[in-house]
Amino acid sequence: MANFQRIKGFADLFSPESDVFSFLENTARNVFSRYGYEELRTPLLEHTEIFTRGIGTETDIVQKEMYTFEDKGGRMLTMRPEATAGVMRAYIESSRYAKESVSKFFTYGPMFRYERPQKGRMRQFHQLNCECLGASEPLADAEVILMLMRFLNEAGLKNLVLEVNSLGCRQCRPLYKEKLHEFLLGLDTDQLCEDCRRRMETNPLRVLDCKVPGCKALIDKAPQILEHNCPECKAHFGIVRDILDAAGLPYVLNPRLVRGLDYYNRTTFEVVSTSIGSQGSVAGGGRYDGLIADLGGPDTPGIGFACGMERLAMILADSGAWQLPESVDFFLAVLDEQALQKGMLLAQHLREAGRRGEVSFAVRSLKSQMRQASKAGAAKCLLLGGNEMAMGVVTVKDMETGEQQTAPMNAILDFV
Ligand code: HAM
Repeated sequence: MANFQRIKGFADLFSPESDVFSFLENTARNVFSRYGYEELRTPLLEHTEIFTRGIGTETDIVQKEMYTFEDKGGRMLTMRPEATAGVMRAYIESSRYAKESVSKFFTYGPMFRYERPQKGRMRQFHQLNCECLGASEPLADAEVILMLMRFLNEAGLKNLVLEVNSLGCRQCRPLYKEKLHEFLLGLDTDQLCEDCRRRMETNPLRVLDCKVPGCKALIDKAPQILEHNCPECKAHFGIVRDILDAAGLPYVLNPRLVRGLDYYNRTTFEVVSTSIGSQGSVAGGGRYDGLIADLGGPDTPGIGFACGMERLAMILADSGAWQLPESVDFFLAVLDEQALQKGMLLAQHLREAGRRGEVSFAVRSLKSQMRQASKAGAAKCLLLGGNEMAMGVVTVKDMETGEQQTAPMNAILDFV
């Protein structure tokens, strides 16, 4: 027989991990809707060009990580490596911009990147993603960041560090890039890693957040982007920071935070956890004012973020703060053959009335059924056999105290 295994970097999520994912989705839906976000579900597959144009041809995602293939109709398609570009495509295609000045969408689901799998880094992973479109005001940046941190707080995630930066705009950033390029040319470039030597020419900003220790040391004295923001960008970022300060939200200014996707300008941010190893970035985002126009839409500004659900789930599991939210009300143990069908109907009656629980499908020893009841975490174990049937009752055992009582079958709801 074939011995099938899941694809490397892809996971099966059994309970309780799948419960943690549902909990995160429900908490996100609750929090995001309070800020006026509506849910948008976009396809997992898009035309490849949406990502090459949106994310940028020089990024790691586009260069090395996309699951791209030609379909039977000869179209080049890609399994979404992130949600933003697809959300922009849907926004443009539906002409939502003509109907309202500001649109807010949240979406969640699987994303695909051909990365080297390790703890916290998967090839299929899940994001909770938010986009606020149509607002260029710094208040929108502040609201998005406050909402992200509110969500993480309500999900019970602690000890996270918020990092912020401003990448400037299409006017001031090219000048900064030139300065940075000049600085990099002045270094002993043989000492830079291979990626940085290439990026130096194609996308010098990415050299700033290289994690290779040798590169980090070399670029220590690089010109700082915040000092090269134009007055408008400085003023914009100043207001964002003022609001975060006034709201009492702590953050760290990180001038090296450039993000791995090319569409960002002005405010960028990341939320980092120190407790889950090297893949500590649990959320990231920023402003992307030229993206919608680059994808063929009107010149509409936007800002958003995505959280990595696997990483959030890891923190919750490690912290022990998360528990199965719902309890199990009953387990119905069937003591002999003649009680099997009645037991099934009784369980159905309880579930129709909103109780949670399971019923045995076959007669097994009382001991093994009791074990099953306690494994399921049932509050009550209901025992049904020929004797009970003859008297029209059920024996109800409290699993915590061990106490047993007899309940009339037709009043069983009062006991469970
Ligand atoms: P990103 O930084 O590429 O941004 O991803 C956001 C988050 O997704 C990361 O902080 C991380 O938690 C999670 N993540 C990324 N790759 C993996 C992986 N291979 N395995 C597990 N988790 C991963 C974006 O995707 C942007 N689209 C965010 C955004 C939305 N910016 C504006 N709007």
